[in-house]
Formats: sequence, C-alpha cells, structure tokens
Amino acid sequence: MSKLRKRIIAGNWKMNKSVAESKDLAADIKRELADCREVDVVLCPPFTSLSVVADAVDNTQVKFGAQNMHWESDGAYTGEISANMLRSIYCHYVILGHSERRSYFGETDEIVNKKTKAALAGNLIPIVCIGETLEERSAQRHKEVVKTQLEGSLAGIDADEMKRVVLAYEPVWAIGTGEVATPEQAQEIHAFIRSVIAELANAEVAAGIRIQYGGSMKAANAAELLAQPDIDGGLIGGAALDARSFVELVRVAQSE
Ligand code: PGA
Repeated sequence: MSKLRKRIIAGNWKMNKSVAESKDLAADIKRELADCREVDVVLCPPFTSLSVVADAVDNTQVKFGAQNMHWESDGAYTGEISANMLRSIYCHYVILGHSERRSYFGETDEIVNKKTKAALAGNLIPIVCIGETLEERSAQRHKEVVKTQLEGSLAGIDADEMKRVVLAYEPVWAIGTGEVATPEQAQEIHAFIRSVIAELANAEVAAGIRIQYGGSMKAANAAELLAQPDIDGGLIGGAALDARSFVELVRVAQSE
C-alpha cells in the first residue's frame, strides 16, 4: 500500500434508501468498520438521511458526505443545500460533478468549479468526478476529455487548496453497467490524471492527491484495481448499498 496516499473508499448511495434503511445500513457498516484506520471510509447517503447517518457513525472512524451541494452559502435557491448547512451537521465530504449530475442535470465544468471552490471554502473535502463516455473512449478521446474536465473543474484553485481535493475517475460506460475498466485501462488514465495535476498545481500535489476509481467496482475486482500504483481507492455505487458487500470491499482495500 502506498505510504504517501491513504486509500479512500466512498459509498455513493445515490437516490436510494429511506431514512430507516439508511440508519440500518450505516449501523451495520459502523459495527464492522468503526475502528478502521488504514483506509478512509465515507458514506454518502441522500440528503434526507445525512442526519441519521451522522448519528450512526458519530465518534468512529467512518465519515460521511453529501452527493451534491450549491455554490452559494444561502439565499433564494429552492431545493438546494449549501456547504454551511452540510458543515452544520459535521459533514466532511461532498461528491461533486458526478456523471449523473452532469448528464441529467446539466452540470458543466464551470458549475463543478464553483461548487468545488465553495466546498473548499466551507471546509468540506470535495470528491470531484471526471470521466469519459463510451463514444469518447471509442473515438480515443478519453484523455482529452478528462483533461478538459480537470482544467475546468479545478480552474483557479491554488496548489495548497488542491491538496485537499479527492478526484474520482469514473468512466461513464462502467457506471452501474457491470462493465469495469481493466486495471491497465484505469491505471493508464489515473497516471495521466496525475500528470495533469502536476501541470495545474505542481509535482508535490500530484504525488499526494488521491484518485479514486469508480464504475462497477466491488470486492471481487477491487484487489487488481487497487494494486495499480495510481489508484487510491474507489467511489462505489451498487456495491455500497449492502453492508456486507461494502465492508468486504473495504477489507480488500485494508489488506492489499
Ligand atoms: P457503480 O456506481 O459502482 O454502481 O458503477 C459508481 C458511481 O456512480 O459512483
């Protein structure tokens, strides 16, 4: 395991789990992982469940995060939630620019950039998502696409602040499809992402920034992905909805 970068496994529950189900799932995960220090474990339930998950993991090593937020601190933005509100319940993380937000809700790199800056200013750790579609990969444009997303999403963020960002490379064609990128495909682009960060910030930030892989990752395929030198964890959808499969995956990250 890399000494430089602590692995981070985050569960993205998406629009799943009632409050009662969230409470049970978080309690089951906490029972197994309350003392997990080798890996950063983050649960990202829907907004309605943040408080019960916060209570369930209080005083443990398990942290929690939101799946989205607005860039303004307050005001007339019906349906939105701000960084301040998230911090007020001791939220640590926020997922930003997930491909589902980009494709269904029109989030652009510019919007992701505003949110990333607001998250950092609000003392949250942003998990900034990037990744190409199947068409873009088929056209061999994946590096160009990912570079543009990084440049846009991280514009104007200085090197010191960028150290606090977590990146998640999620090829859209692998999300929820069961089709996982090969370890070689993932490693190639993770190394490329790190080289782009060296250009945007500097070599030190690039060496320290954590880059998660996301897209049909589960315990059965996690070991070979995490064995790659530039893969520092996972952003987990489907396999995060069941305590056993999520805990198993974290165990792989602890042991490999
Ligand atoms: P998946 O989702 O693990 O179900 O593919 C990952 C994600 O969208 O973050």
